[in-house]
This record gives sequence, structure tokens and C-alpha cells, in this order.
Amino acid sequence: MSNRWVHERKGEHYYKKAKEEGYRSRSVFKLKQINSKFKVFEHAMNVLDLGAAPGGWLQVASEEMMEEEGLILGVDLKEIKPIYVDNVATIVGDVRDLEVQQEILDAFKGKADVIMSDMAPDVMGQWDVDQYRQIHLARIALKLCDNLLKGDGWFIVKIFQGGEHIKYIREVRDMFKYVKNFKPLASRRKSSERYIVARYLRKDRKLPSEFRPEIVVEEEEDTEPIPGDQLFFEETS
Ligand SMILES: C[S@@+](CC[C@H](N)C(=O)[O-])C[C@H]1O[C@@H](n2cnc3c(N)ncnc32)[C@H](O)[C@@H]1O
Repeated sequence: MSNRWVHERKGEHYYKKAKEEGYRSRSVFKLKQINSKFKVFEHAMNVLDLGAAPGGWLQVASEEMMEEEGLILGVDLKEIKPIYVDNVATIVGDVRDLEVQQEILDAFKGKADVIMSDMAPDVMGQWDVDQYRQIHLARIALKLCDNLLKGDGWFIVKIFQGGEHIKYIREVRDMFKYVKNFKPLASRRKSSERYIVARYLRKDRKLPSEFRPEIVVEEEEDTEPIPGDQLFFEETS
């Protein structure tokens, strides 16, 4: 039996199962498998879902969460058809856009218990470029954790393995104490997709370098040399 055949059958199986069970995407089974291992929705009130269209992960979050108050917010470039559950809201926008990031922060009254990102760009077919663009989206999700996630909240993020992902995992470790690399069964075996599941934000956390505030070095005014300073620069022969 060829690997490709197994691979396609698996995709087909989850596709059919999603349709039969009324889910909007095959990806729901990945999140269900993540949740059954890590119990990320236990006691969760506020959840942010980045790259939420067509809404499969929003369906899972609303099913798994026990709390009736709180907010499940989905954000995507594409419109998400309404999910008729009281505490689910959506924003149409690009998470790379600073205004959209602010809109997300404003939407939550408190902090989030779970921030999850299944974001992936439209692939252009040039693997290193596609992978870099995907990791860039994962970095923005990490940046939002810095401002929005509770100290003991969960972070779940999809990454594509390639040149950049090792560096990204190091960045997640700079932010969180607990970091796991997980491949759900529902994810095609041969795909480079992985999910990073992290928890416990570090107090002394460091954001990925591209988001760190620039350190402004004030230029010193010219000063007279202190007598004796020149001794350090004297050349000896
Ligand atoms: C694999 S799909 C998500 C499926 C979703 N988890 C579900 O179960 O229905 C990836 C999504 O990421 C979104 N996306 C890609 N780039 C984005 C960006 N810059 N801002 C917001 N969403 C983005 C895409 O529009 C796409 O809907």
C-alpha cells in the first residue's frame, strides 16, 4: 500500500467525519486531539482563535468550554459565517495589521485563558518563502500572548517545519516555561505541520527580536578628555 494512498485516505476520512458530524473543517479533530491530551479548555472563559475561518476551532471551543460567560473571539482575513452561540464573536482582518491587533486587545475585558493559532498563508509553492511567511504569523500570535494571555494560560500554535522553525521554538521557550511539540493523529503524517503547545508565561520573558522595543542610545556630547585617559590609547612599540 503506497504512503500517498494512506495519506489521502486519512485526509478523506477526517473530511467525511467532519461533514457527518456537522463541523466546518477537518482541523477540528486536530484541536480535539490537542485538547484531550492537554485539557486546554478546562476552566477557560476567554479564548482567542487566530486564523479562525471557516470556524471549526470556534465550534470545538464553544463545545468544550464549561463557562457560559466570557468570550470566544475568532479573527480571520475571511468572513466567518455566524456561529449561533452567545459568546462567540468574530473580526474580519489581517492580524499583521497593528489596528487589528489593537481591536483584539480591546475586545477582551480581562486576559485570555487560551490563545490558539491555526493560521497559514496561501502557499505560493516556494517552500522557504511559504514557511517564513507562516512562521511570521506564528510570531504575531506569540506577540499577542505577551499582552493578552493569563500567566497560566495556554498557547497553541501551528508551525510548518523548515529552516525557521527551530529558531521559533527557541523564541517560544524564551516566553514560556512549558513547551511541547505535538503532532495530532488527525494531521497528515507526511505534512510538515506541527503544533506547539505552551503554558506558563515567564516573568522575565523576551519577545522575538523583531518585536523588542528599540533601545535608543543617546549620543553623548563631545567632552574634554579626562587627564590620563589618553594613556589607554597610547601605542607601545
Ligand atoms: C487552516 S485555516 C484555519 C482553519 C480553522 N482552524 C478551522 O478549524 O476552521 C487557516 C486560516 O488562516 C487565515 N489567515 C492566514 N493569514 C492570515 C492573516 N494574516 N490574518 C488573519 N488570518 C489569516 C486564513 O484565511 C485561513 O482561514
